Amino acid sequence: KPEELDARIRAAKAKLGKRAIILGHHYQREEVYRHADIHGDSLMLSREAARQDAEYIVFCGVHFMAEVADILSRPEQISILPDLAAGCSMADMADIVKVERAWRELAQVLDPDEQVTPVTYINSAADLKAFCGEHGGIVCTSSNAQKILQWAFARREKVLFFPDEHLGRWSGHQLGIPLEEMAVWDPDLPLGGLTEAQIRNARMLLWKGFCSVHQMFQPAHIERWRAAHPEGFVISHPESSFEVCRQSDHVGSTEYIIKTIKAAAPGTRWLVGTELNLVNRLAEEVKAEGKVVEFMSPMVCMCSTMFRIDPEHLAWTLESLVEGRVVNQITVPAEEAALAKVALQRMLDVS
Ligand code: 13P
Ligand code: SF4
Repeated sequence: KPEELDARIRAAKAKLGKRAIILGHHYQREEVYRHADIHGDSLMLSREAARQDAEYIVFCGVHFMAEVADILSRPEQISILPDLAAGCSMADMADIVKVERAWRELAQVLDPDEQVTPVTYINSAADLKAFCGEHGGIVCTSSNAQKILQWAFARREKVLFFPDEHLGRWSGHQLGIPLEEMAVWDPDLPLGGLTEAQIRNARMLLWKGFCSVHQMFQPAHIERWRAAHPEGFVISHPESSFEVCRQSDHVGSTEYIIKTIKAAAPGTRWLVGTELNLVNRLAEEVKAEGKVVEFMSPMVCMCSTMFRIDPEHLAWTLESLVEGRVVNQITVPAEEAALAKVALQRMLDVS
């Protein structure tokens, strides 16, 4: 029963005290979110993971987030993901074999280590972050992507951005890079499906990857809503398509979306293009001020992997710790972690 699970989680948390800290991403379902000690977007939670003193960092989020917590925390701290099946389908769209192949293929046309900065979205496996650490690259999140691109372009003339094509395109556009100077790299085709001339001309090579949740939002959803609510505001996450971002009044990370709507005038109406759990929670939180928050898609777009972290898994994880058993520990091999930390630290220093 939900109340029993809730009570079990509270009891285990109380027994663990300061030995465990629970971090919760904004996309977590309410029954889990309420137990988190710290909430945030991926940038905030990375910073928090690096500052914690607790023995156990229980990450209610997805796999790459728990990896980041392991990399940025001290060696004796333990990072835990309550359900090991909580991955990120976008992160899985770039793997180290394909990225290394892309780097070798680029070397047929130019000198990538002189001319291309690899930039990985934090939604990626630790070995890709390590690749960036090794090749003069950097990590970004949805809240600092523009600053990170500025850093990257100050060093080398081109950027290979993976795994999210949309975040790359939108952030590059915001920096003033013309769309004609961006090319999509399809990792399943030789030379990314590009000609040598296209590679030479491109300033940004955008990995062909996307978020299955944010790709559901369509410009037509915005147009229909604006016709019915011309006074309303549209706000989207930059993993949405370029057209959706272009038609939005505001674009930003989950933290930015929450802050913007909470700071808005009472009585305003909002259409939000990001994950459903966040939107529903926010709608509840601001309704007392007469603000109306609506979800962009007529379809239910939830992040099914974030949803895997449920109260059952959280209770089991915490109760195991109380009994002295560590379950679902996420460990990044030391050598890989050291290189990944280089790329993550560059990001933390820049943002
Ligand atoms: P944030 O950087 O806004 O936390 O986004 C992470 C994410 O996975 C969005 O889909
Ligand atoms: Fe990954 Fe998309 Fe889920 Fe974010 S919403 S964790 S990018 S699948």
